[in-house]
Amino acid sequence: MHEDVRAALEQQVGNEFHAAHTYLSMSGYFEKQNLPGFASWMRAQSEEEIEHAMKLFDFLVDRGVAPELPGIAKPHHAFDGPVAAFAEAFAHEQGVTQQIHRLYELSLEHKDYTAQVLLQWFISEQLEEEKLTGGILERLKMVEGSKSALLILDAELGSRQGDEHAH
Ligand code: FEO
Repeated sequence: MHEDVRAALEQQVGNEFHAAHTYLSMSGYFEKQNLPGFASWMRAQSEEEIEHAMKLFDFLVDRGVAPELPGIAKPHHAFDGPVAAFAEAFAHEQGVTQQIHRLYELSLEHKDYTAQVLLQWFISEQLEEEKLTGGILERLKMVEGSKSALLILDAELGSRQGDEHAH
């Protein structure tokens, strides 16, 4: 496996853990705001990010690599309301999409066909992730200022069943 592809995949393991960290931090924030539905949605999202990290980790192991893992940056802790938190989550997903696209470009450059198959899964997954977080952000903006509508949305998000979209 080309050194650059390996290093970028290792970095992506860290990026996915950072996403998990970020959503777990947001989950704690929503618990504190008495919005348990948003909190459990964020917790489920955090768990999904750990699965993403492990998928990359396992891929490296399968290719005979002992992954050298990067450090994980401290996530934000305070958010200026639900809209701000979801705006950050959406921006975060857009950033991850860019990271995955750069990784894919690298795998093309080095003709790593095996990595391309894995990364195609991530490319599709990012489409879903952006659609999901962006959709909730738009609905939050719609109900801004209405506590009763926010509580309805909270109940809806609380009914999220584990992982809603395909793995
Ligand atoms: Fe694993 Fe939400 O990107």
